[in-house]
Order: sequence, then C-alpha cells, then structure tokens
Amino acid sequence: MTDAELLELARRVGQEAAAYVRSARPDGRVDVASTKSSATDVVTEIDEACERLIRERIFAARPGDGFVGEEGDDVAGSTGVDWVVDPIDGTVNFVYGIPAYAVSIAARRGGEVVAGYVVNIAAGTEWGAVAGEGSWRYEPDGRRMLTAPAVETLAHALVATGFNYVPEVRAKQAAAMAAFIPQVRDIRRIGSAAIDLCALAEGQFDAYVEQGLKPWDLAAGGLVASEAGIVLSGLDGPPGERLVMAAHPSVATEYFELVRACGF
Ligand code: IPD
Ligand code: CA
Ligand code: CA
Ligand code: CA
Repeated sequence: MTDAELLELARRVGQEAAAYVRSARPDGRVDVASTKSSATDVVTEIDEACERLIRERIFAARPGDGFVGEEGDDVAGSTGVDWVVDPIDGTVNFVYGIPAYAVSIAARRGGEVVAGYVVNIAAGTEWGAVAGEGSWRYEPDGRRMLTAPAVETLAHALVATGFNYVPEVRAKQAAAMAAFIPQVRDIRRIGSAAIDLCALAEGQFDAYVEQGLKPWDLAAGGLVASEAGIVLSGLDGPPGERLVMAAHPSVATEYFELVRACGF
C-alpha cells in the first residue's frame, strides 16, 4: 500500500469509529469507567470500545502491522508499518458533551509518521495528511488544501495549549503560562490536542504549546500541521512528551525562544 492508501484506510476506519461514538453517546454526561494517571485523567467504556473497533478493522485489512493505542493496545508488527491511535482525543469534552473530541489515526513507516487522519466526532469535520503530499480538510466536493497563514508579530499570536493530567506537570505549565500570556494575543484551551493542531494548520490559531503529549495525541495532527507549513519543535530536539511547540515559520524562531524563556 502507498502512504495515500494507508490514509484512505485510516479515513474509512475513522469514519466508522466516529459513527460508533456518536451512536453510543448517551444524552447528558457520559459515565466515567475509571481514572488513569490522576483523578482528572478519565476514561469511559466508549473510549475502550472505540479503540477495539479501530484495532479490529485495521488488523482485518493489514494483519501484520503494529498498533499502539491510548487505551492499552501495544502490538509489535512485522511489516514496517504501525498505527498510532487515539480513539477519543478530548475525553473530558466527550464526558461533558462539549463538541470538541476526535478520533485520531496515524500510520508510521519505519517509525516516521506518513499518514494522519483526524475527525471531530461531534461536528463531522475531517482532516487528512500524507507526508510530502500536503494536508487538507475534506469538503463535500473534495479536498481543500491547507496552507497555514503567516503571523504578523508574536504580540498578535493566538496560541492553543493544553494542560497535562499530572498535577506536578500542570503546576509547572501554569507557572510558565503566567509569564507567557502577557506576551501574546491570548490563549485557547480547547481540550483536544489533535483538533488544536488541525485548527493551527487551518489558521484558526497562530501557534501551539503543550507539555506531556503522548504519541497518539501528536502523530496525526502533527502531520496535518507540518504539511500545512507549520514548524514543530521540542525543547532541544524533535517535538515529544517533554514539549511540543509549533508556529508558522514567519515567527517560529522568535516564538520558540519565548516559550523556552517562559520556562516551559
Ligand atoms: C488529551 C487532550 C488534551 C490534552 C491532553 C491529552 P485525551 O487527550 O488531547 O487536549 O491537553 O494532554 O491527554 O486524554 O482526551 O485523549
Ligand atoms: Ca489524547
Ligand atoms: Ca484519548
Ligand atoms: Ca485519555
């Protein structure tokens, strides 16, 4: 399969998963099944069932691939392709019924993300990207290619962010935020890293910063952003759990310095 065909598989499976989550969600609040890294890190039975559905569909199509999912799947493969899946990115929003939660599916080849698919489950908005082929939003009449717009100055930058579930990380993020907020236009905490990164690719944000992201939070949305021309970085190397910062090249160097100086 080509990378574009891997994306088509991700989209087919992701659409089915999103339809499942929509049909399974009761009215009102969703019951929390258990908590993970802290009391605020919740998971529902629907997160787990959604991951099972995605794993079954991917393995039915490509039995030898690897698969890593947030809700516990970790299968080593033999084909060189592995899948990195967040069945519901934005579980807290999902629990409360705030319409910003997504299915995120990425395919890696030799460890590099080559295809990424994100669907906002409640809104139905879908994004896709293939390494070297760009990123787009799926529209009823085809694909609308994404090119992130340039940013005038950092003082005009609207920055998406998120807060980790681990209290110690969160306290550190809050302290860095106190230094950061006076220097930018404002921040937004939407509650789904995958949606944040796709929105950044569309120009709904100018930049992004977050600590504590896992591979399944970052893989698909990160490719959508980078293929739209956004630069992503970590503290002293590639973006990862320690830090993800992302911005348009027009302000990236200056923005990354600001993030470091604020103590993220
Ligand atoms: C979370 C969301 C949130 C981010 C957290 C993630 P989950 O994922 O992406 O925006 O701030 O760091 O863990 O748990 O809802 O899949
Ligand atoms: Ca997530
Ligand atoms: Ca999740
Ligand atoms: Ca989670």
